This record gives sequence, structure tokens and C-alpha cells, in this order.
Amino acid sequence: MYECGADLEIANAVAIGRVIAFLETLAGLGDHGACECSRPQAPDSSVSALDIQRLRSDTPGCQERVHLNNAGSGLMPGPVVRAIQDHITLESRIGGYEAAEARQDAVQDAYRSLAHLIGAQPRNIAFTENATASFIQALSSVRLQRGDVILTTRNDYASNQIQFLSLQARLGVRIVRAPDHSQGGVDVQAMDELIRRLSPKLVCVTHVPTNSGLIQDVTAIGSLCRNAGVLYLVDACQSIGQLPIDVAGLGCDFLSASARKYLRGPRGAGFLYVSDRVLDLGLEPLFIDMRGADWIAEDRYRALPDARRFENWEFAWALVLATGEAARYATALGIEPIRWRIAALATRLRERLGSIGQVRLLDRGSDLCGIVSVAIAGHDPGELVSALRARGINTSAQIREYAVIDYDDKRVSSSLRISPHYYNTEEEIDLAVSAIRELLAARS
Ligand SMILES: Cc1ncc(COP(=O)(O)O)c(C=O)c1O
Repeated sequence: MYECGADLEIANAVAIGRVIAFLETLAGLGDHGACECSRPQAPDSSVSALDIQRLRSDTPGCQERVHLNNAGSGLMPGPVVRAIQDHITLESRIGGYEAAEARQDAVQDAYRSLAHLIGAQPRNIAFTENATASFIQALSSVRLQRGDVILTTRNDYASNQIQFLSLQARLGVRIVRAPDHSQGGVDVQAMDELIRRLSPKLVCVTHVPTNSGLIQDVTAIGSLCRNAGVLYLVDACQSIGQLPIDVAGLGCDFLSASARKYLRGPRGAGFLYVSDRVLDLGLEPLFIDMRGADWIAEDRYRALPDARRFENWEFAWALVLATGEAARYATALGIEPIRWRIAALATRLRERLGSIGQVRLLDRGSDLCGIVSVAIAGHDPGELVSALRARGINTSAQIREYAVIDYDDKRVSSSLRISPHYYNTEEEIDLAVSAIRELLAARS
């Protein structure tokens, strides 16, 4: 029932305007390759539009490390670092509240820059501490009752899944996960059937999961939600700054993200997009505070008219300003060139890793992003991460608890995650692969 036909797949690909040509399955994957990797086809001008050497010289970390852990957190570029330092300095000189007031125009610019990056208006942006805080604020605003259905996927982020389960235990809501397509990624046709049959109160989809290169078809799902009038929450934590995001095109009601990953903003900062529809419906977070609302009488409060009703009172304003700077930086470079550069580096990485005997590529889906995940027979990813770090190469180890369903499906308990950004070089990719090859040879 849930098998997606080739026609539908082609229709979906065309509908979202993918430029990737699915030209070839990687040569030489043999038994090692679990994924059907596609070679990204970027317009030449996209890739050459980025001056990699200039961007690297703007990124202090590039001089110290081969940073291939951008799915953990990207290296901040100079302007982002300076935005933090300048504001902290100002706070230390004139006082925290006074500094925030003095930089009000810059703060408004931060809202504008972020809104511009995702095709929204500043009134639709709430700043938060991280993607999880954004997600929780959104989730808590949906008036869920016993028996209501939350429809999600098998690849949604671990914290989101834990929150669904907590709601299930406390409120008696039903959590339904749509099945995956045989190629990987949620089966959009199955989603459609489930939306029609179950009338969910909320649909939640993680655009790019934390632990693999999968890109979920959030645009197609958005149009299903719009047609059915269902609230739609997209977790864009790993896609913001890596893939183009246009909230109008996505048709989402909420979009949660953090600043520190592919957007190259600071740690400890995030944001939530809230649609006008949600604002007009009067939805507000369950634990709204005195920033999100005014206490106007002994037993009454009034929520703010815009997305700031999803914010909390206390802010690290230095991080808000730096997030705005990161959004401007990404916009100035252009998300399309960024996307193709990352895709090209990730493809190179998959190709080279795929030729190492013990390595099994775990990324599935017809359209893959910059997160490359592999299982290596007989080797603990945690130990490999430490050994690579000792050589100045940053990667990350992922364990089953980060993505129980996906890991069980793939029959692995952990993986090595390598996530390049546009500022990495082809030489760095090759260096990392050689280092892995050497480490495996030395340990087997
Ligand atoms: C897909 C996804 N969603 C949400 C999160 C949580 O982000 P944060 O740590 O900013 O709350 C992560 C973190 O890695 C993630 O990868």
C-alpha cells in the first residue's frame, strides 16, 4: 500500500525543482554500500561563485583544524565572532540592559536578516536558545487532547521523538510514524493516506536528520498539510544554512532551527519561524512568559501579536546579534552555491570512503546532503573520532540512542559522521579518508 511508484517519484522531483540528476549509483560500492548515492549536478557558476580561499581566511578555525563536524557545529566566520565579542565588550563597559537598548537597531536587523534568509517577515521570527527550545515552544502551543494524532516520520530527531512519547504518556495523544519509501526517506504517498485517514492535529518532519545524509521531501509534505488544513512543524536544524529554505514554499506553520550548525552562528542560539496562520489562530506556548505576553490585570494577560510571543525574557543578546550576522553571511554567499559546494564535497567523501573495504555507507535516499555516515566493521566510531582528532581532524561518533529506529533498520549500533562545509577543501576530504584508511590498517 505504501510503495511509492516511479511516476510519483519523478513528479515529486520535478515539482520541487531539483537540479540533481540521478546519473549514477556509485561505482564500486559492492557489498559495502548501503546507500544509493547520487552525484550532484550543480550549475558550474554555483560552485565557482564561492571564493574558498577567501572564505577560509575569514574562518580562524580553518588554520587550526580540518573541521568535518559541521553537523555538530560549524566554524564561525570572523564577522560572527566579532559580533559576539563587540557586544560582550559593550555589556562589560556600559551594562547588559543598557547595551541591549543601545543596540536595538542592530537587534531589529537580526530579525530582518533571519527572516530574509527563509523568505519570511521579521514579525514571524522568534529567537530562542536552540532548536530544541524552538521545537518545544511550537509543540506546546498546539492544543492537544487525548486521542489526537501527531503524525511524524521514522527519522525525526531523538529529542523530538522523546517529547512525542512524553506527550503520549501524559496526555494520551497518539504518535504515528509514516513508513519509509524503499529508497529511504518518508514515503510521501503514505503520508498523504495517513493524513486523510487520521486527520492528525500536527505533522512534524525533520528536514535533515542528525545522523545521515537523508533529505526529507518537506515541500511535498507541506502541500499535503496545506490541502488538509493540518498544522505543520519542520525541524530545519541541520538544513538551515545548508539547503535553501523558503517557508512560503514549504507551507509550514513552524520551523525550528539552531544557529551553530551549517548556518555557522554561535552555540546556544536558535530561532523559530511562526506563520501568520498560527499567529491569527492565537496559538501561544504553554509556558508563555513576560516577554511573550503582558500581564494586564490580576487574572489576565495578553499575548504579543507577533512571533515574539514564543520568546522568553532573558536573552544572550550577543548571540542574537551574531545569529543575524551569520544569516547575512550565508545570504551574501548564496544558499545555492553553498548547497552545491557541500554536496560536491560530500559526494567525493562518499566515493572515497566507499572504496575502503570495511566501510559501509549508511546514507539513504535519492537526494543526499552534506552529512556522511558510515559504519566500519570491527571498529568503534568513538575511538576513531579520538584518533582522528589527535591528527587535527574533527568528526563525530553517533550512537543508536540518537536515532533508534534508523539504526535498528540499518542494523548498526553506532556510526562515524563526517560533515563537510563549503569552506573545506578537496585536499581535506582526501586527507581525512587517508587518515581513516591508515587507522583501519593499523588496527586490523
Ligand atoms: C535534526 C536535529 N534537530 C534538532 C536538533 C537539536 O538542536 P539543538 O541542540 O540546537 O537543540 C539537532 C541537533 O543536533 C538536530 O540534528
